[in-house]
Amino acid sequence: MTEIIRTIQEMTAISRDNKSAGKSIGFVPTMGALHDGHKALMTQARKENDIVVISVFVNPLQFGPNEDYDAYPRQLEQDLTLAESAGVDYLFHPEAEEMYPEPAAVTLHVGALANVLEGAKRPGHFDGVVTVVNKLFNIVKPTTAYFGRKDAQQLAIIEAMVKDFSHDIKIVGVDIIREEDGLAKSSRNVYLTDTERQEAVHLSKSLEMAHQIIAEGTRDSKTIEDAIENYLKEHTNGVVDEVAVYRYPELTQTKIIDGQCFISLAVKFSQARLIDNTIIGGV
Ligand code: PAJ
Repeated sequence: MTEIIRTIQEMTAISRDNKSAGKSIGFVPTMGALHDGHKALMTQARKENDIVVISVFVNPLQFGPNEDYDAYPRQLEQDLTLAESAGVDYLFHPEAEEMYPEPAAVTLHVGALANVLEGAKRPGHFDGVVTVVNKLFNIVKPTTAYFGRKDAQQLAIIEAMVKDFSHDIKIVGVDIIREEDGLAKSSRNVYLTDTERQEAVHLSKSLEMAHQIIAEGTRDSKTIEDAIENYLKEHTNGVVDEVAVYRYPELTQTKIIDGQCFISLAVKFSQARLIDNTIIGGV
């Protein structure tokens, strides 16, 4: 049975008791509208920990003024069913008023890691992410926390935050979970029209094509980026917002692919901006 916990005080007490009983706590922070991508994180947490906690909290701090905070899907009943099927013990679901009773006197700011990719397109987004994740870490007190590689920049920033702030928490990255046709699962896929949904398959297809080009010997980032962009322009009506090769975890752009890199892309459809990426390891 998954128990819903609605207050910080209650969640803190549960975590404190489990910690002092020597139990490991696996934690999956989410914004709800749960799907199989989230479930993969929970399943891994279930395998590796005594207690599994997830949070469902649409964090106002990480949405820009013109973004989808109000429209973001909220469906606690369905989320609870999915959490139960993954064997989650506690679903922490606080109110925004309790998390942020008044404007914060002390805020967190992400440096250069947030100046590229999603961070460049969404000013302040990652400041909001690290603020909430810090708070959640202090409340839930996990031994291990699980994040998806779908949000590669977020994962790199959380890893940096844990290091910079000496959180005694292991961060685990989990591979991207995809629909059968290859589209990365996302709570925002529901915003796609039927035609856009069909076109969206080409995001992952363009990344497969990139792997092919790399396998054939190309190492020049621009050649790869151009090939992906042309492919996306040809196969979708979405606006290609970003295609770039970055080093991981430094998040610096690289002209030549060497060491661990990833290709990141973002395409804007009428109501949804979709992201995808693929890791190119040590080629
Ligand atoms: P949310 O978008 O709900 O995602 C929660 C976690 O699920 C993130 O770590 C994300 O990378 C992972 N995830 C989403 N789709 C995935 C997929 N298809 N495959 C694998 N993992 C996937 O990311 C957030 O919420 C928020 O920024 C949060 C960290 C909760 C802070 O508010």
